[in-house]
Amino acid sequence: MHHATKCLLLSLLTTATVLAQVPQRFTAQNPCTSKGTCQECIQTPSCAWCYDPQFTGSARCFQPSFPLSSKEEQCKEEFTHNPDNIMSVLSNLELTKAISGGGSGGGHWSIGYEGNWSQTDSWEHQGASMAGEGASGHGSSGHHIVQVAPQRINLKLRARQSYSIFMGYTQAEDYPVDLYYLMDLSKSMSDDKEKLSLLGDQLAYTMQKVTSNFTLGFGSFVDKVVMPYVSTLQEKLERPCDMCVAPYGFHHHMSLSTNTYMFSRMVKNANVSGNLDAPEGGFDAIMQAVVCRNQIGWRQQARRLLVFSTDASFHYAGDGKLGGIVKPNDGRCHLSHEGYYSQSSYQDYPSIEQINLAVKKNSINVIFAVTGNTIRVYEQLAKHIEGASVAKLERDSSNIVELIKEQYEQISSSVQMKHNASSAVSIRFFTRCLNESGALVNTNKCGNIKVGDVINFKIDIEVLKCPKERRDRFQTIQIYPVGINESLTIDLEMLCECDCEKPGDKYYLENAPACHGAGTYKCGICVCNPGAFGRHCECSADEVTKLSKTVGCVPPNSTTGLECSGRGTCICGRCECESRGPLERIYGDHCECDNFSCERHMGELCSGETHGTCDCGTCRCKPGWSGPNCACEESEAGCYPPDVIGGEICSGHGSCVCGQCQCENTKESRYSGKFCEKCPTCPDRCLEFRDCVQCQMYLTGPLKEPNDCSVNCTNVPVPIAVDKVEAIEENNEYLCHYTDEDHCQFTYVYYYDSERKLHIRAQEKRTCPPEIFVLGIVFGVIAAIVLIGMAILLLWKLLTTIHDRREFAKFEKERMMAKWDTGENPIYKQATSTFKNPTYAGKG
Ligand SMILES: *[C@@H]1O[C@H](CO)[C@@H](O)[C@H](O)[C@H]1NC(C)=O
Ligand SMILES: *[C@@H]1O[C@H](CO)[C@@H](O)[C@H](O)[C@H]1NC(C)=O
Ligand SMILES: *[C@@H]1O[C@H](CO)[C@@H](O)[C@H](O)[C@H]1NC(C)=O
Ligand SMILES: *[C@@H]1O[C@H](CO)[C@@H](O)[C@H](O)[C@H]1NC(C)=O
Ligand SMILES: *[C@@H]1O[C@H](CO)[C@@H](O)[C@H](O)[C@H]1NC(C)=O
Ligand SMILES: *[C@@H]1O[C@H](CO)[C@@H](O)[C@H](O)[C@H]1NC(C)=O
Ligand SMILES: *[C@@H]1O[C@H](CO)[C@@H](O)[C@H](O)[C@H]1NC(C)=O
Ligand SMILES: *[C@@H]1O[C@H](CO)[C@@H](O)[C@H](O)[C@H]1NC(C)=O
Ligand SMILES: *[C@@H]1O[C@H](CO)[C@@H](O)[C@H](O)[C@H]1NC(C)=O
Repeated sequence: MHHATKCLLLSLLTTATVLAQVPQRFTAQNPCTSKGTCQECIQTPSCAWCYDPQFTGSARCFQPSFPLSSKEEQCKEEFTHNPDNIMSVLSNLELTKAISGGGSGGGHWSIGYEGNWSQTDSWEHQGASMAGEGASGHGSSGHHIVQVAPQRINLKLRARQSYSIFMGYTQAEDYPVDLYYLMDLSKSMSDDKEKLSLLGDQLAYTMQKVTSNFTLGFGSFVDKVVMPYVSTLQEKLERPCDMCVAPYGFHHHMSLSTNTYMFSRMVKNANVSGNLDAPEGGFDAIMQAVVCRNQIGWRQQARRLLVFSTDASFHYAGDGKLGGIVKPNDGRCHLSHEGYYSQSSYQDYPSIEQINLAVKKNSINVIFAVTGNTIRVYEQLAKHIEGASVAKLERDSSNIVELIKEQYEQISSSVQMKHNASSAVSIRFFTRCLNESGALVNTNKCGNIKVGDVINFKIDIEVLKCPKERRDRFQTIQIYPVGINESLTIDLEMLCECDCEKPGDKYYLENAPACHGAGTYKCGICVCNPGAFGRHCECSADEVTKLSKTVGCVPPNSTTGLECSGRGTCICGRCECESRGPLERIYGDHCECDNFSCERHMGELCSGETHGTCDCGTCRCKPGWSGPNCACEESEAGCYPPDVIGGEICSGHGSCVCGQCQCENTKESRYSGKFCEKCPTCPDRCLEFRDCVQCQMYLTGPLKEPNDCSVNCTNVPVPIAVDKVEAIEENNEYLCHYTDEDHCQFTYVYYYDSERKLHIRAQEKRTCPPEIFVLGIVFGVIAAIVLIGMAILLLWKLLTTIHDRREFAKFEKERMMAKWDTGENPIYKQATSTFKNPTYAGKG
């Protein structure tokens, strides 16, 4: 029966386990529960980690936003690691506002004043007056100009969670412009040079209309002075052509300066040179013009334009090999004191990407002003260089001023946002541009901006994946408008790791005892050293290769083959029993034991704590208690009748079991009552006492000899003589009736007093019947029989006599009636016949 109960309980428990797994299956969509480490957990959106060392729940990684079922253990607040995205703004200077009513100097383009460019005097005068104006301070120009806000923020982001920041861009009024004119001075460009020298002051004048803070610089290039680009014959080296100077790679003529008058002079003074092949060494020149910041004089805060004008294509990385130059371009500045590129004959041309990088880094807008025959090549090139644009130059560069103006207008009236984040971070730009009522569009470009317009960008930043290297998790990201040396710098920290996974934390312990000394305790879990495994690193690899994975988890004689009795998980050949809350414990090598499935008494396990405890299906009783459910009191005190001193246990008619009487039950006697004191069906002892009562009371019976009576009746108390014997029911008195050999009746009762002593009360005198005369009766009866017989005989005689006489009388009468005489035979018939005539009416 015990076994059956256990089986039933076990099967119930198994069902319960199956049921308990159902919610887990439901939460299969919950991305958190499958995450085994704090890192993985917090790299999953909406998950939080519990590093409570005492935590006993099933999954440490949980969704704090989802309420747990009440059964599940809740993680304590102080042990929950759920980092938030944090943004703090470090620098947020206000955007520079446009000066309202700032006159014609602003964004309005108008080319007037055409006749005055050639008057060099007036040029000088203008330059001076402009310088003066600049010194006196012109509105915002004296201050630090801010076109991007905020400027620096600190961001802590969790992986795979998009975070939005907002950024404003405005085009400041009167923003400084640096323009460096880089010119191909090979022989074919001589007419262009002439034209440019003539147009120089017009260019300056035009630009000054755009911005009062304008500088102009000039440089030129030919090609590497190496065969096959340039003829290296001595005479050709000195004078490659008529009116030519010796060839050179790149020559920086004039640093960026507000003195625009000097520009024309410098252009005029520059002499053309000659080379052999068609493509020119323009890339060398671009690289030097871009990277030689100090020599060129690029200002920190200015729109930087590099106008590259040529009528030929270009050499690029690899072409240097033709001239035996194998050393790649290092992208650094190598300008001599005289302004020549000193590494021209030693380093190869830069690649397009090198140019792009340098241009990007220095926020320079390259404008390729090229003649029609090469424009296609440069259009392709411009696609690969950030912020570059191409414009068609007339053969003699006569349209250079409009070209630059248009390009500048294009550049400054649009904004394009860029960033330099690595691939681990995704950055997306959304903006309405100038359409306040419009929808947010996923774009980083806006056009048609006028001075003073503010463009707002919404920037979604998302850490796509956590880099493996810890140092890669800190990134400085720049978000900048192309061509402007202003940016929003984001110091990004990716929250990829928990503090408790780093050495030095309170919850980080190497070779921790909690991990059997074979692993590192991190954030509440063990990370095992190589060769060890198991939840607490309790298994070692050598040990387990001997056993198959689950062999230790199935009991050897199991018929079901159920691992860990279905109430635990098999971990390296050992069972780890599931936990069932604080009150229920499952244990045993195969989780076959528990402390909640034992026999119950009145609904209490093992009759309650005070009686015993449950251990693996059996109750372990406390001293003083026994029985399968510890409900039995071992003391026999309760089996003694309370009002009998020195009485027998269970009145001598039963045994004491669990502190209670179990009464004897035999065929002829059934005892009952709390102390087995009652027996309604018991045979009485009347017979037993009869002889003694007889001899003691009446000196009769088989023991009537005085000796026999005294010897054989010692057990029987001397009866108390009473007149009339009556049994008193309450005292359990027994009434006995007998008739002795004298036909006398006698009656007595016996009973036990409260001390179980036998007492007998007997009738003082027997009731005897009166004497009867037996012989008289006998003779009387005999006489009666004889008399009756005789009477019957007489009666018979009388009757027959009467009958005879009647017959005789009848005979006599008949005889007397006979007609014929005596002697006449009645049967005699005469021999004669007589007939009567019927018609004869005579006497018959
Ligand atoms: C040249 O500029 C002066 C003022 O600087 C102006 O008076 C004159 O008319 C201009 N000449 C022409 C041809 O426009
Ligand atoms: C021009 O701009 C620079 C900053 O790029 C500034 O330092 C300088 O004062 C400005 N000059 C004038 C004349 O506004
Ligand atoms: C350019 O050539 C002219 C004569 O043709 C000469 O006077 C001048 O010095 C040369 N300039 C340079 C920079 O060599
Ligand atoms: C851009 O401006 C910052 C200061 O605002 C300066 O440190 C940096 O050198 C500038 N970069 C370039 C390429 O001019
Ligand atoms: C972006 O540019 C800034 C400034 O040049 C630099 O410090 C940062 O490391 C760059 N970021 C990346 C991801 O390359
Ligand atoms: C602004 O956006 C709205 C809605 O997208 C559109 O209807 C409207 O034409 C846009 N206006 C301009 C000037 O683009
Ligand atoms: C397993 O079964 C074998 C015989 O089949 C028996 O000798 C052994 O005692 C059993 N072991 C257990 C733990 O029941
Ligand atoms: C079962 O064991 C657990 C842990 O030892 C204990 O807290 C609990 O009280 C026990 N339950 C019963 C019913 O004895
Ligand atoms: C009386 O007791 C004696 C001895 O105990 C025994 O021998 C005898 O038979 C008894 N008498 C009767 C009538 O039972």
